[in-house]
Amino acid sequence: MNLLRRKIEQEIGGRGAIPFSRYMELCLYDPELGYYSRNAEQFGKAGDFYTSSDAHAVFGRLLARQFDEMWRALGSPEHIDLVELGPGRGLFAQDVLGWSGKKFPEFFCALRYVLVESSSALRERIRETLRTHLDSGKAELTPLYSLEGKSSRDSPTIVFANEFFDALPVEILGPKGSLRIDASDGHFIETWARPSPEEMEFLDRYSVHPEPDERIEVSLVAQQFMDRIAGEVQRGFIIAIDYGYTRDEQLAGRHRGTVKALRQHSISDNPYEAPGDQDITADVNVTALAAAAERRGMQTHRLVTQSQFLMGIGEANQFADAFEECRLPQERAKVALQLKHLVTPAGMGESFQVMIASKGVEEEKVSVLSGLSFGRSR
Ligand SMILES: C[S@@+](CC[C@H](N)C(=O)[O-])C[C@H]1O[C@@H](n2cnc3c(N)ncnc32)[C@H](O)[C@@H]1O
Repeated sequence: MNLLRRKIEQEIGGRGAIPFSRYMELCLYDPELGYYSRNAEQFGKAGDFYTSSDAHAVFGRLLARQFDEMWRALGSPEHIDLVELGPGRGLFAQDVLGWSGKKFPEFFCALRYVLVESSSALRERIRETLRTHLDSGKAELTPLYSLEGKSSRDSPTIVFANEFFDALPVEILGPKGSLRIDASDGHFIETWARPSPEEMEFLDRYSVHPEPDERIEVSLVAQQFMDRIAGEVQRGFIIAIDYGYTRDEQLAGRHRGTVKALRQHSISDNPYEAPGDQDITADVNVTALAAAAERRGMQTHRLVTQSQFLMGIGEANQFADAFEECRLPQERAKVALQLKHLVTPAGMGESFQVMIASKGVEEEKVSVLSGLSFGRSR
């Protein structure tokens, strides 16, 4: 018997049918039984999915190069916070810290790396991976990034989030209303309720209304997170990388109904199977996310694909960051393949979008960042 299924059924028994976002929240983040809370084995070959940091250290190295440029664009301040949301196992942080220490010593000296991870199992893993940096105070680990408290950061800040927003709970809207999950005879069943004014406003402003047989996601939680993050940054940048789409793409008929379940590297569109044993994600509505950042005084910049972004950073030195330790031709060939996976359309390059927002930085300094410059004459 799946214990989380029983727990969700009990909650439904107590309060009636629940919104899809609550179902997704319990599946992923129930403190004991949720997918991300249960263990730290979700990532990589033996897990359910790969993220860019699993592919090769070059992802973190290229981003370290970009962070160093951003720090310079901010006037090389004495202190800068790099806040990573949902760092998972901490591999990206390890790569960024390692490479910055080696290649960008001035930036490294100013840097404090803050990892914000809600899963205690993953925090345990991060403690092992980053022991030295945590012990020295270079890195700091904090739990749940909650929507309640309010704080503001005095130091210039770069917030980095890779595949964070696509793991936040969404509502699903269809022609019959807003999705609710009910339970009957050991099965979850879908029912529909009248949409809330916020949900309708979201569709009007940032998305589209569902056609017959369509489902459209409403990412209110992601917007609330962006609102909080963008409000906290006094000066600095936010970089969010995710499977994403804009409203225009939805108007062109794409990205309508993107909720997916992932287990052992296969994708299903049934989120009700094996709650807590499979990941559930929804592509990110970048139009809505950008609007939330702008409401908090941030400027958002040209949306680029991960491919354009990494090519822009790596092309100047022909991806020397990737090949540095390669001595033999076979080693170079292996790294070239890993790099190809990160940048080509067949790999992760075209499906991931990079959203960059800035606050308190001159436009001329942002537009020359290498990650935003691919394909433009400099
Ligand atoms: C899909 S994983 C991505 C992990 C990592 N960024 C990577 O690319 O490998 C999403 C991560 O976000 C974390 N997370 C989700 N909601 C969170 C919250 N409110 N505060 C902190 N971490 C959160 C999850 O526990 C998980 O580690």
